[in-house]
Amino acid sequence: MPAPSYEEQYAYLEKRIDALKTTRTGDEHQTEGEVFDRKTLMTIYDFMKRGLIDKVHYPISTGKEGNVFYATDEDGDPLALKIYRTSTSTFKKVAKYVEGDPRFKGTTGNRWKFIYAWAAKEFRNLQRYYDSELPVPEPIANSQNCLLMEYIGDETSPAPQLRSVELDDPTDTYDEVVSFIIDGWRDAHLVHGDLSEYNILMEDGEPVVIDVGQAMTADFFNAKELLDRDIANINRFFKNRGADVVDPEKIKEECFAPEDDDEEDEDYEDDDEEEDDEE
Ligand SMILES: Nc1ncnc2c1ncn2[C@@H]1O[C@H](COP(=O)(O)OP(=O)(O)OP(=O)(O)O)[C@@H](O)[C@H]1O
Ligand SMILES: [Mg+2]
Repeated sequence: MPAPSYEEQYAYLEKRIDALKTTRTGDEHQTEGEVFDRKTLMTIYDFMKRGLIDKVHYPISTGKEGNVFYATDEDGDPLALKIYRTSTSTFKKVAKYVEGDPRFKGTTGNRWKFIYAWAAKEFRNLQRYYDSELPVPEPIANSQNCLLMEYIGDETSPAPQLRSVELDDPTDTYDEVVSFIIDGWRDAHLVHGDLSEYNILMEDGEPVVIDVGQAMTADFFNAKELLDRDIANINRFFKNRGADVVDPEKIKEECFAPEDDDEEDEDYEDDDEEEDDEE
């Protein structure tokens, strides 16, 4: 059987991506801000062919570097699809993070490659956190500039950001976020690097951390500075909310404390080399 033509593929996508039903503009099929350039459309098509997504409904968030969409699978269950813009401004933002990460040190070439590496980096960071049983969305798939993950929220809406939630017990939530920082460092060997009330969603009263693209491994030369910054941000926010915050030095002591004998020593060495694991 011959492969479907682009027009046939597009017709298939048009039925399954709400944004395409209304915004067809000549050849390029773009929604505002180039989210659905041709390559991106074909990546979504691939996710659909693999049975990962059935429909893409509406944007949950539209940001400078990318958009997050509400999607559903064949059972109608929700998914979050994050699509990075392949623009020059995204490239400028991400290039330094990709270059600074030893796991991606082989990355060279055009801006697409860097943006794909960035999406892969967010996917791998999610996997590390998730494998260490830390509260992040479950990573599902990554290809090119697209990242598919567990949807955090309910039928009515995505989970709100921490900043816009009234907390029953701020100290309790604070302690959970501090545990994320400590266990993230000790178990996932990662520092988030952009932890704030914007990148924490509150689902059923529990914090879930998102936006982990810039997270770095704990052995990164600048990791301790990133850790200081994450702790400072979190302490500032929760202090304002009336939580009993802990001295940053105490938090760091816990991060750096030697491992107990019965603590599992996860080995991530194999993750330190560039592998071309784009699907
Ligand atoms: N897995 C998810 N489930 C539900 N909503 C999500 C999920 N991931 C992201 N979102 C929503 O999309 C927003 C942006 O996501 P994220 O922070 O990962 O992207 P970003 O590129 O940093 O965008 P921004 O610059 O707007 O922060 C989040 O604040 C949240 O509202
Ligand atoms: Mg964010």
